[in-house]
Amino acid sequence: MIELKDISKSYNYNKSNETVALHSVNLKIDKGEMVAVVGPSGAGKSTLLHVIGALCTIQSGSYTFDGEDVSAMSENKRSRFRNEKIGIVMQNFALVEEYTVADNVAIPLYFRKGVKNRRQLVADAMQKTGIYDLKNKYAYQLSGGEKQRCAISRCLCQNPQVILADEPTGQLDSANAANIMDIFERLNNEGMTVIVVTHDENVANRCKRIVHIKDGQVLSDVVR
Ligand SMILES: Nc1ncnc2c1ncn2[C@@H]1O[C@H](COP(=O)(O)OP(=O)(O)O)[C@@H](O)[C@H]1O
Ligand SMILES: [Mg+2]
Repeated sequence: MIELKDISKSYNYNKSNETVALHSVNLKIDKGEMVAVVGPSGAGKSTLLHVIGALCTIQSGSYTFDGEDVSAMSENKRSRFRNEKIGIVMQNFALVEEYTVADNVAIPLYFRKGVKNRRQLVADAMQKTGIYDLKNKYAYQLSGGEKQRCAISRCLCQNPQVILADEPTGQLDSANAANIMDIFERLNNEGMTVIVVTHDENVANRCKRIVHIKDGQVLSDVVR
């Protein structure tokens, strides 16, 4: 499904002031996998997720998704690819605080034409994370765990092929973190591909495969 070949990515791309965040990374992730990406701060984990999410360009190497060359896509094509295939969950939830839960979950649908049954899609997405009963609450009224469930529902609403989560439990206590991992595990059991960047060993240990990144390189890649 996801194939990264010799990916290199630098920031501030000029010779005098350059940070190399990824060095010739090779990584293959199949449909239906549940992968943790771990490693120290600054290792390149977020950058790797941004590359997979087509949120940034790369300097060299190739990235294909279901055989499609993402690295060769124009800006427009890349953003369409992202909207259609990729669900992104961030540590800080990135909700619109003054919107209700239902309105937050519906956001990806604003960018889609010709979607029927919008209300049903939103309701299904809320049911999958157990927040349906909170649908009329405002985001600012939610606890951290509820906010993250709302953010996951928002990404489910776009019916992605893969969910990319960057430290999704970083702001949560251990009970809420376990609850979020229960949701990811359930989605994965239904066939969703899930990639989680995490510092938390308990979170990593819930994943079937652990990729360890250091200094922009894959240090180890273990299937448990
Ligand atoms: N937007 C940016 N501009 C310049 N350097 C960046 C940027 N984002 C990340 N970096 C650098 O790239 C390296 C990898 O960062 P990152 O992928 O965020 O690591 P991690 O998520 O593992 O902490 C770090 O050295 C970081 O300082
Ligand atoms: Mg990071």
